Amino acid sequence: MQDIRDAILADDTAAVAGLKVPESYRGITVHADEADMFEGMASNEKDPRKSLHLDDVPTPEVAPGEALVAVMASAINYNTVWTSIFEPVSTFSFLKRYGKISPLAKRHDLPYHVVGSDLAGVVIKTGEGVHTWKPGDKVVAHCLSVELEAPDGHDDTMMDPEQRIWGFETNFGGLAELALVKTNQLMPKPDHLTWEEAASPGLVNSTAYRQLVSANGANMTQGDVVLIWGASGGLGSYATQFALNGGATPVCVVSSPEKAEIARKMGAELIIDRSAEGYKFWSDPETQDPREWKRFGQKIRELTGGDDPDIVFEHPGRETFGASVYVAKRGGTIVTCASTSGFMHQYDNRYLWMNLKRIIGSHFANYKEAYLANRLVAQGAIHPTVSRVYSLEQTGEAANDVHHNSHQGKVGVLGLAPEEGLGVTNTEKRAQHLDAINRFRGV
Ligand SMILES: NC(=O)c1ccc[n+]([C@@H]2O[C@H](COP(=O)([O-])OP(=O)(O)OC[C@H]3O[C@@H](n4cnc5c(N)ncnc54)[C@H](OP(=O)(O)O)[C@@H]3O)[C@@H](O)[C@H]2O)c1
Repeated sequence: MQDIRDAILADDTAAVAGLKVPESYRGITVHADEADMFEGMASNEKDPRKSLHLDDVPTPEVAPGEALVAVMASAINYNTVWTSIFEPVSTFSFLKRYGKISPLAKRHDLPYHVVGSDLAGVVIKTGEGVHTWKPGDKVVAHCLSVELEAPDGHDDTMMDPEQRIWGFETNFGGLAELALVKTNQLMPKPDHLTWEEAASPGLVNSTAYRQLVSANGANMTQGDVVLIWGASGGLGSYATQFALNGGATPVCVVSSPEKAEIARKMGAELIIDRSAEGYKFWSDPETQDPREWKRFGQKIRELTGGDDPDIVFEHPGRETFGASVYVAKRGGTIVTCASTSGFMHQYDNRYLWMNLKRIIGSHFANYKEAYLANRLVAQGAIHPTVSRVYSLEQTGEAANDVHHNSHQGKVGVLGLAPEEGLGVTNTEKRAQHLDAINRFRGV
């Protein structure tokens, strides 16, 4: 492993091709025999630091169409929080189901799950039939794993009935020294970014792109007013940038003055601090308060000069969904990709049908959407939102920060990179964007 690291650090990536693939590597795992460890506890008491382990695991065989990547850096996504607290279900149920489809998929069904759905690194080995990528290539990986044997996914790969999220519904994820991916997950690493910066946009950037920009999602256009929940968080920080980059007006919802400051730094002008405003959309756990939806809607109109949102970018779920449906403009779109606060949503359907609004479900992104989202990062039009970087050993702590919403933007994790700040090969482009790249640092 040290030889691989040394070759990459010396930027002698061609040499990587001649190196022996190690028989084992270190990765962040959850253990199948611990899936009940938090039983009976409230979600916020379940501690990822107890369930995430750093283990030495055997290197998997590389099958046709796959690549083994030396991971220089990865990032925390909320799906690793879900895996680590075994909610809403243990991810071993996904691995078991996947393992049943073929002998090669069976490799994923193990008593440990190496997690993580982002990476930046260098290809060290490719499987048979791979000709677009080769050992030594500097890459990032998106997390869409598809089989594409059914007709359903051939217009839009997200429609493949065998669609899975790598490192969440498959094994050998990115929070590790090595990772196994299908080569149709690979994309060029943006050359002006460090390993940890390049690794961090992947999952959330692609998701926000499909959800907000793509015709498969809300199909945002110039002049749209876009209400963005959690605007300084993982998804929201990219949605805010896409809105601004695409000529829309984001209305950013955050929960503290520090988070409001980050939204302002990204260029947003219309910001709502939901804590300061004290919205209470639920008067008790079963009953919502439409007067609070109205008060929220009035605040949005006050900021926009009277406009309601053309698009509501939803992911908090149960706590906010009633308000989101209420405040969307007549004919507007509520586009949702998650339910962080609870998946049994409740809203007043009269506001939806009488005002011809639409609810769209969105999930990750197809290869093309992920590629286009990454290309915007490579072009310097969209920037990473890394606030803090942890070592592989500290992954539990990093996931705990995200679990408790005490982070900003994205939290990076180093793999083989011994320190932050490495991997940049285009210093000129970097210099042009340095302030934007560092917006989330030290807040
Ligand atoms: N379907 C997909 O493909 C996909 C992809 C990525 C993520 N997700 C899911 O999307 C969710 C968010 O992911 P993320 O990476 O953006 O997480 P994140 O970094 O934790 O950001 C979420 C933000 O949402 C806001 N928020 C949290 N709870 C809220 C509540 N009850 N009411 C209002 N706002 C709330 C918080 O902002 P403030 O406190 O500042 O308001 C927080 O910063 C997670 O559930 C994740 O699993 C789904």
